[in-house]
Amino acid sequence: MYKLYINPQNKKGHLNRELQGHFSEHLGRCIYEGIYVGENSSIPNENGMRKDVVEALKKLQIPVLRWPGGCFADEYHWMDGVGPKENRKKMINTHWGGVMEDNSFGTEEYMELCRQLGCKTYVNGNMGSGTVREMSEWVEYMTLEGTSPMADMRKNNGHEAPYRLDYFGVGNESWGCGGNMLPEYYANEYRRYQTYVRTYDWEKPVYKIACGPNAEDYEWTEVLMKLAGGHMSGLSLHYYTVPTGDWNKKGSATEFDKKDWYQTLKKTLYMEELLSRHSAIMDKYDKEKRVGLIVDEWGTWYDCEPGTNPGFLYQQNTMRDALVAAINLNLFNKHCDRVHMANIAQLVNVLQAVILTEGEQMLLTPTYHVFDLYKCHQDGELLDSFLETKEIGEEDAKVPNLTESVSLGTDGKIHITLGNLSLDESYEIEGILAETGIKSAKGRILSGQMQDHNTFENPHKVQTHIFEQIECRDNRLNFAIPPCSVLELEIEMA
Ligand code: AHR
Repeated sequence: MYKLYINPQNKKGHLNRELQGHFSEHLGRCIYEGIYVGENSSIPNENGMRKDVVEALKKLQIPVLRWPGGCFADEYHWMDGVGPKENRKKMINTHWGGVMEDNSFGTEEYMELCRQLGCKTYVNGNMGSGTVREMSEWVEYMTLEGTSPMADMRKNNGHEAPYRLDYFGVGNESWGCGGNMLPEYYANEYRRYQTYVRTYDWEKPVYKIACGPNAEDYEWTEVLMKLAGGHMSGLSLHYYTVPTGDWNKKGSATEFDKKDWYQTLKKTLYMEELLSRHSAIMDKYDKEKRVGLIVDEWGTWYDCEPGTNPGFLYQQNTMRDALVAAINLNLFNKHCDRVHMANIAQLVNVLQAVILTEGEQMLLTPTYHVFDLYKCHQDGELLDSFLETKEIGEEDAKVPNLTESVSLGTDGKIHITLGNLSLDESYEIEGILAETGIKSAKGRILSGQMQDHNTFENPHKVQTHIFEQIECRDNRLNFAIPPCSVLELEIEMA
């Protein structure tokens, strides 16, 4: 029996809904085909956006969408993507597959997508190959209400009112694909570029995000916080789960064994160390925790599916990805004092996608269902909780058997999300609420075998089910969590 202690009286911090954010790049079939099919497509669409995809994402209450990259952001020139489509410049997407980019999805289309989704906007600016002026004018184009060359251009392009720009990234992976800069150099450049990222409406100041470290590059965080911490609202962090740790041979998304399963989960759990250590450095320079740690790229990265364009990063998604998502989302909750936003890579058809499409067909991945189970935490308050665990796994790949986080929801109920990392053991759990009786409890579960995934032939093989086997008495609830599963429980207090 494993005990889960919850203290509903001890609130530990706010769970920004943006902790469950997403990322969409001009990469492979993410934007084109996956989201945007154009007004003339036979696939049902509203202003060019796939209706099926938009509906599915609205069900997740998608809180924020980052765009246009990624590496693509640092070669994206926004003016190429506004105005009449027939006049938009065509370019080669050199990072991703060398395919032609016709810029038919640009600023207007992104803002329209966010309008349809009802989500916040996160635009990533080009510092790698763009100028200060170009970045400054993009922000002016999007957000200035009055008269100015850029605001007038927006109005001429059919949008009278300014757009709402919630988050703005100043460069992406500037230590790598975004310009191969050194931290001191980037810090200086960041200070310069961000000066001209103006806030035109002080009721909605732009939240400026500086490019942060690649995984465990703690020096980058140190230098950035020291030299530019006062000029940023957030600092990004990128960390991908690569099962083998070898970027040349990452492993298959669907063909893997027990050892790979635990190895992948162990690599995912490394996120805990990254969050703790980067936060500790940030604490040195920002004791009030004003600057957010923005994990704007996370998720699994496997060898792409056989027969697909290697530059398109298309991969399947199994119960292993479900557990990866469950672990990460619980960790972001637990670190909500510093982590203000996180964005899984990527939304559709790329890396750990929540949706896959094939022509007019669409399927929801196991990762989608985890986000569906976790949406109960959005804008809740993290509650003090502790779960007893034991170590399981294989040699060199040991992990705790369980992961959890608990919140008090905006609905006044307690929400628990749990993952069972074991492939063969089910665990009896007793939840104990401090000084609080339980009126009722209900749950939903996602479970299966490790390689289970949805295909276009069998799109509902992995899906959530009602979980009824819960017993409540006074301030305790008892249940057993099956192996290889993610569980959401909702408790009504007496
Ligand atoms: O998500 C794919 C790529 O991974 C992004 O373009 C880049 O920022 C990262 O290296």
